[in-house]
Amino acid sequence: MSKNNNPEFWNGVTNNLVRYGGSFDPLIIERASGSYVYDADGRAILDFTSGQMSAVLGHSHPRVVATVQRQMAEAAHLFSGMLSWPVVNLAKRLAGLAPGLDRVLLLSTGAESNEAAIRMAKLVTGKHEIVAFSKSWHGMTGAAASATYSAGRKGYGPATVGSIAIPAPNSYRPRFRTAEGDLDWRSELDDAFALVDAQSTGSLAAFIAEPILSSGGILELPLGYLAALQAKCRERGMLLILDEAQTGLGRTGDMFAFERDGITPDILTLSKTIGAGLPLAAVMTTAEIEDKAYEKGFLFYTTHVSDPLPAAVGLTVIDVVEEERLVERARLMGEKMFAGLNALKQRYECVGDVRGRGMMAGLEIVTDRKSRTPALETGARIAAEALKRGLSMNIVKLPSMGGVFRLAPPLTISEAELDQGLTIMAEAIESVVTRG
Ligand SMILES: Cc1ncc(COP(=O)(O)O)c(C=O)c1O
Repeated sequence: MSKNNNPEFWNGVTNNLVRYGGSFDPLIIERASGSYVYDADGRAILDFTSGQMSAVLGHSHPRVVATVQRQMAEAAHLFSGMLSWPVVNLAKRLAGLAPGLDRVLLLSTGAESNEAAIRMAKLVTGKHEIVAFSKSWHGMTGAAASATYSAGRKGYGPATVGSIAIPAPNSYRPRFRTAEGDLDWRSELDDAFALVDAQSTGSLAAFIAEPILSSGGILELPLGYLAALQAKCRERGMLLILDEAQTGLGRTGDMFAFERDGITPDILTLSKTIGAGLPLAAVMTTAEIEDKAYEKGFLFYTTHVSDPLPAAVGLTVIDVVEEERLVERARLMGEKMFAGLNALKQRYECVGDVRGRGMMAGLEIVTDRKSRTPALETGARIAAEALKRGLSMNIVKLPSMGGVFRLAPPLTISEAELDQGLTIMAEAIESVVTRG
């Protein structure tokens, strides 16, 4: 019997765990190292989702392990009004990476960083309406959840007053088309903001956006969109908050995804990748905005704000990203990954679309190319086949789309490992397609 079927473990799961969303993989994970996680049978499973889209350096990177051991012994957690070198040094390093965003708040999770960003935007603008994309994910806490539209809205009572959504541009399923039939995102954005203006009570505070909507099915904002969105915000005295939980720190082939678009947001939130799997998040903003927030008495006093242990990890993560040139590597390995995924698209009718950039890709499964009908069941079967063959791939299942595989391997993945993953993907699709 496979050790993954241990009844004591699964009885514990059934009897004692809260089911918090989706289903659990039928595995017991005993350890994780580099690009692999290892199950109870000692089987190596290639992790194409970097844990929860976070482990950019792979699992248990020796430099991170050493930092945790050292910093844990020195100082892990402090009174929130006490500061330490790792905190100030990380703030300086981050400010150096994002010119113009000089002021940094260090927190723990993505939702928390968005909570702080939205709170700051409301205080500074003196307004309260927050606009987000209809396929967004910004987290599971109050204001972040109110700005999350891809899942989890029903059954929890009212969202924050002043929550407004606009459609996320989707080049595979355009709502507005140019004469050539391509996505006409400019018309879509104009139309969306006409609706925002119609709904607004005159209190628009901020727009919060992911540069690539990940949980929404890897929808990339077309080049030019962010600049146009920022212009819409400026016209209305709104701040632009960019949530780079997943795209930050090299994932897309730039240190931050917004660099491609030649804009700087008013507030940037980072999480997931900045701790490479450990709970670390940051809110970054301009000196002007931070000064204004301070004058108005900005309060975001949490237990783990400015903790030295995660800050030290963040410094090590940036060191490794720079020393191992992982931003460039994301571009190079990304090209290889996209070549492999596009080859799958050529070969299999059920692969409707391949999109994304750098080392962040979406591969959408449909019944056929012509109708582009979502094929959620087929996607789920491919994911299960891949897992059986030693590849873990996350699949987003939204009713409005096909199953979309989200591929975001560690930036440290080797060419051989990437090839192995692409081969397993091909085998998994082939087996599902031939069995019908
Ligand atoms: C873009 C984005 N923002 C925020 C979050 C929330 O982060 P956390 O789960 O750490 O609160 C997520 C989580 O998936 C995310 O993808």
